[in-house]
Amino acid sequence: MKLVLILLVSTGWTLCASQFYYQALMDYVENRLLAIEGHMHLWQEQLRQHHGELQDLHKQSNKTMEALRQQHGVLTKDMAAAAARVERVERDMDFVESRTSPRACANQAERVVEQGVWSQEESRGDQDQGWEEIPSRVSDCVEITSAIRSAKILKRMGASKGVWFRDPRSSKVYVFNGTAGDTVYQFESVKEFGGSAAGALGRPIKLPSDWRGSGVAVYNGYLYYIQQGADVQVVKYDILRGEPVDAAILPVESHSVVYSLNPETLADIAVDDQGLWLLYANSESEPNINLAKMDPITLDIEQIWDTRCPRDKSEAAFVACGTLYVVYNTRLASRSRVQCVFDVNNKVTSEEAPLFYFPRRYGAHASLKYNPEEKQIYSWDDGYQILYRLSAKRKLLV
Ligand SMILES: *[C@@H]1O[C@H](CO)[C@@H](O)[C@H](O)[C@H]1NC(C)=O
Ligand SMILES: *[C@@H]1O[C@H](CO)[C@@H](O)[C@H](O)[C@H]1NC(C)=O
Repeated sequence: MKLVLILLVSTGWTLCASQFYYQALMDYVENRLLAIEGHMHLWQEQLRQHHGELQDLHKQSNKTMEALRQQHGVLTKDMAAAAARVERVERDMDFVESRTSPRACANQAERVVEQGVWSQEESRGDQDQGWEEIPSRVSDCVEITSAIRSAKILKRMGASKGVWFRDPRSSKVYVFNGTAGDTVYQFESVKEFGGSAAGALGRPIKLPSDWRGSGVAVYNGYLYYIQQGADVQVVKYDILRGEPVDAAILPVESHSVVYSLNPETLADIAVDDQGLWLLYANSESEPNINLAKMDPITLDIEQIWDTRCPRDKSEAAFVACGTLYVVYNTRLASRSRVQCVFDVNNKVTSEEAPLFYFPRRYGAHASLKYNPEEKQIYSWDDGYQILYRLSAKRKLLV
């Protein structure tokens, strides 16, 4: 009996002690949890704070970026305006320079011009004889134009577009101001043209109809020009007698232009040492420039070639020694370049076809007229009359 009692008491104690122990453990865990909760709360608070700061920073940088972007835009505009102004000033400076320093470009071909002018004035009686004596270095066609050797701004006059050139036979200069009109102006020489006041236009020659675009040429005393009425025609005009002598209808639709960047030019006329050439496109759907050899007496077309030089982005072209050089640019004028060459005699291989650029910064050419005697080009660029001297290299001759 006594033993049973002791056993009961000891069991009670044990139960009691384990209950205490359990309670303490619970308390401990609960405290820990509370502490952790406290920490988590703190972290959350910190996180919220950081997030807010980040957002502020983002807003701030967004604003800064916006301001920078605006400033960049303004700067870009300013730069473009300044560049345009600099270009203008540079051209004016070149022009002034070329007017004030006659020795700036004085070399071989320049002397040919002056000699031509002077020899003609000195020997009025036998001027043709004097002209025959100038050796034509390209007539054998062993050379191909490979670069622009130099440029000389001769004058600034007239509208932004126009045509000017020197007749190799008479050394007279012809000026077509603008893109159409019934008058052409004649000067006695390049010297007289260069020395004349900017507003003076020389001796006017009134034509029986309007010329149009850059399709004009003088050959053997006759003026050839493109006239647009119901048809597109080439008119042959006797300069000395002052009357038209012939006209021929061209196979050209009245709205198809030969150079896409100079839409006033429906067809172009070029002169080289082999004769008279016509450049045109039959129709608007024709992608390439056609080249035709024209009989200067009868105006008959002797032969036609598809040059495979695209009309797209072309601004002008010239023919030298039976080879066509097409000059391309971009719609916002950048640097003009010869990028397509076509030789009617198939003597130029595609590997040696030259790609060459016109000098820096000059914009869009309204016309390029090659003079086979002087091997130079008379060009009209944004109201400037510029002479380009050409370099040649020997053809490979296959
Ligand atoms: C940041 O700028 C862009 C516009 O550039 C805007 O669409 C966006 O809402 C801006 N963000 C903030 C947070 O302001
Ligand atoms: C050339 O043509 C333009 C526009 O067609 C005209 O404003 C200008 O007066 C002409 N120049 C001269 C020198 O007559």
